[in-house]
Amino acid sequence: MEKEAEVLIRNHGYLKLPVDPTMNLEKEINRLKREKNAIILGHFYITPDLQEISDFIGDSLGLSQKVEQTDADIIVFLGVHFMAETAKILNPGKKVIIPDMNAGCSLAESAPADKFAEFKAQYPDHKVISYINCSADIKVLSDVICTSSNADAIVSSFDKDQKLIFAPDKNLGNYINSKTGRNMILWDGACMVHEKYSLEKILDLKELHKDAEFIAHPECEKPLLLAADFVGSTTALLKYPQKSTYKKFIVATESGILHQMQKDSPNKVFIPAPSIDSTCGCNDCTFMKLNSMEKLYLCLEHEQPELKLDPAVIEKAKIPIQRMLDISKKYKL
Ligand code: 13P
Ligand code: SF4
Repeated sequence: MEKEAEVLIRNHGYLKLPVDPTMNLEKEINRLKREKNAIILGHFYITPDLQEISDFIGDSLGLSQKVEQTDADIIVFLGVHFMAETAKILNPGKKVIIPDMNAGCSLAESAPADKFAEFKAQYPDHKVISYINCSADIKVLSDVICTSSNADAIVSSFDKDQKLIFAPDKNLGNYINSKTGRNMILWDGACMVHEKYSLEKILDLKELHKDAEFIAHPECEKPLLLAADFVGSTTALLKYPQKSTYKKFIVATESGILHQMQKDSPNKVFIPAPSIDSTCGCNDCTFMKLNSMEKLYLCLEHEQPELKLDPAVIEKAKIPIQRMLDISKKYKL
């Protein structure tokens, strides 16, 4: 099977094997998980069935913190490639497996390491803050990592006079610049999901639902963030409706979040913000949605595809991630 698995992963990115359609996938996944002492970690953007079967569901910061603490032998990561890389970097002794190697990230891909190294060389007196949505090779080139939950605190941990580069998300970088009064040099990268929202359609929707608040993730473009009633990370967006007096919300972030939002606030209404090129009114991250129950079952059963990283990369990339975790701990984030 080992050889066959290798070929399947090389050709398809995942174990393209038949799964008995009568199988109770939930029961089998839970059995395998117990037998193998595995933990399933999922990001809020995955589908509701996968969110429900995860042992822990979180945003990028919460997931990194959970990875640091786990005593499981196997970490199954339901998210995208850079998240599984972060799990491996923080816990190199564990086996990290992911259902589909093709689950990448447009934002991470917008910063190739060789191009970024050239860019960084132009600013020798600058420190580099990188958003966690980047490859391990970009992390190696960074002084500290941040997520959307702690970007403010990480940037503010630097002396006001320290010159900074922020990569790879220009929208989050711009937003943090305006919040902190900094003038960080920004790498020109973006997330294809969060850049796809149509401000025009959102304003029309606001007209139609005057009793709704519009909330958005800082990976969205500036004009959209200026129009938002609240801007926050995945976790902040989840918490906001619980304390707001409003009953209705237009939500500009990946639609997977709506499952948990609705669970947390069953009596409130959540409307996915419309994108420029869709008629369905929702924005899915196609990479996150490559995860499925069938692929999760196969990946647990065969413990493949496995995420592997060069030990030298692990050693260097851990330093800026650990800095982020230490700063977050200090500020109780
Ligand atoms: P956070 O989980 O940090 O909010 O990031 C959102 C995202 O785009 C994850 O890929
Ligand atoms: Fe990457 Fe955007 Fe998908 Fe997040 S939503 S994983 S940033 S492509």
